[in-house]
Amino acid sequence: MHHSVDAVIVGMGYVGLPLAREASAAGLSVIGFDVNPEVVDGLNQGRSHIDDLADSDVVEMLGRGFFATTDAGELRRARTIVVCVPTPLSSDGLPDLGPLRAAAVSVAARLQPGTLVILESTTYPGTTDEEIRPILEAGGLRTGTDFALVFSPERIDPGNENFGPKNTPKVIGGYTSACADAAEAFYSRFIDTVVRAKGTREAETAKLLENTYRHINIALVNEMARFCHDLRIDLWDVIDAASTKPFGFQAFRPGPGVGGHCIPIDPNYLSHRVRARLGYPFRFVELAQEINAGMPSYVARRIQDQLNLDGKPLRGSVVLLLGVTPDIADTRESPAIPLAKTLIQQGAELRFHDPLVKQFAVSGYDIPRIDDLYESLAEADISVLLQDHRDYDVDAMAAVSRRFFDTRGVARPAHHVQLL
Ligand SMILES: NC(=O)c1ccc[n+]([C@@H]2O[C@H](COP(=O)([O-])OP(=O)(O)OC[C@H]3O[C@@H](n4cnc5c(N)ncnc54)[C@H](O)[C@@H]3O)[C@@H](O)[C@H]2O)c1
Repeated sequence: MHHSVDAVIVGMGYVGLPLAREASAAGLSVIGFDVNPEVVDGLNQGRSHIDDLADSDVVEMLGRGFFATTDAGELRRARTIVVCVPTPLSSDGLPDLGPLRAAAVSVAARLQPGTLVILESTTYPGTTDEEIRPILEAGGLRTGTDFALVFSPERIDPGNENFGPKNTPKVIGGYTSACADAAEAFYSRFIDTVVRAKGTREAETAKLLENTYRHINIALVNEMARFCHDLRIDLWDVIDAASTKPFGFQAFRPGPGVGGHCIPIDPNYLSHRVRARLGYPFRFVELAQEINAGMPSYVARRIQDQLNLDGKPLRGSVVLLLGVTPDIADTRESPAIPLAKTLIQQGAELRFHDPLVKQFAVSGYDIPRIDDLYESLAEADISVLLQDHRDYDVDAMAAVSRRFFDTRGVARPAHHVQLL
């Protein structure tokens, strides 16, 4: 009975499920444990609920012996347990470790000697050692001697066709170096490159540095977008020019705000940690947060300015939002939500179109999804491109629109086309 399964993955979401597929495809025996019975039943019936996996991928996994379960008892069989549960922000803006602690309690109650426990959930530095290790040790087993403990950040970029779990290098930080050895042996079975950080805190912080770096650089170009517009400088052209520098520059592009589960949330973990432990702010994060969070209302104002050119008030005007997420159906933290809220409050008649998102509700109100894209573009008082999509022919779309506001910098210039 003991250790009869290579891996039990805890949390079958955007992170856990692709990981389970990769491990199962490499021949490892894998079980998915999740507390949500709908997710578990769906998977066992061959249905995927996330963008990066098709139903056929799940069917293939089932064919290789994978199954999902709500029975925590299966954790006893695992050689390796990988925890991929959510780490949301609580309502007061602090990290909510509830799901992570709950998962650790489930694991602790069934932990067998010799097991490797890996945390992949994004969290603030020190969580693995200070919050999770004591929970796992409550039953008497000792970390580093009786079982191994490792933090390994998930770097998945949902919807990215070039980089998936297999070819994105995997950072691991062990509680001891023997713990790291065990994780290296585990991940090397299905991931091309494994990179060892010094310890759990370094691995936790590496993830937060990556996401904070992105967050800050997006804020930088978002702030530039505002003054470049006022100075009549084409920032998109500026970025294209600057990106020809072969060293020391990485291009980031402005947009209507920052969306997704990670970039707007993770830097808070670091700034919270710095403030709580050291008593001073992480100023870069706070500034970036403020600038990026201000983009939806800036976009709303620009929409209003353009309608004004036609003598139209925002109230009663038809505003068509194009693309509420980038090539994925996950609308979490989408800046389209606060933008839509502002526009609704001011009386605009909102419509939306997105190739993947079928339903877009804001403050309990279902924004109508249009069926005929080109007809609706011609009818709307202004069409606003929030996210480009492979299926969009932006120039053709702009051509039939009365006004076309392109927040992604992809449309060809024309008198009725404005870039952010
Ligand atoms: N989605 C991403 O692109 C991404 C990228 C990098 C890191 N991360 C991080 O990975 C973690 C997981 O994110 P996700 O997007 O996969 O979340 P998700 O919401 O898609 O999936 C989490 C799953 O965990 C389950 N769950 C919750 N509590 C549980 C428990 N106690 N025991 C077992 N299962 C439980 C939920 O039912 C859900 O199915 C988060 O910390 C997130 O910040 C996510």
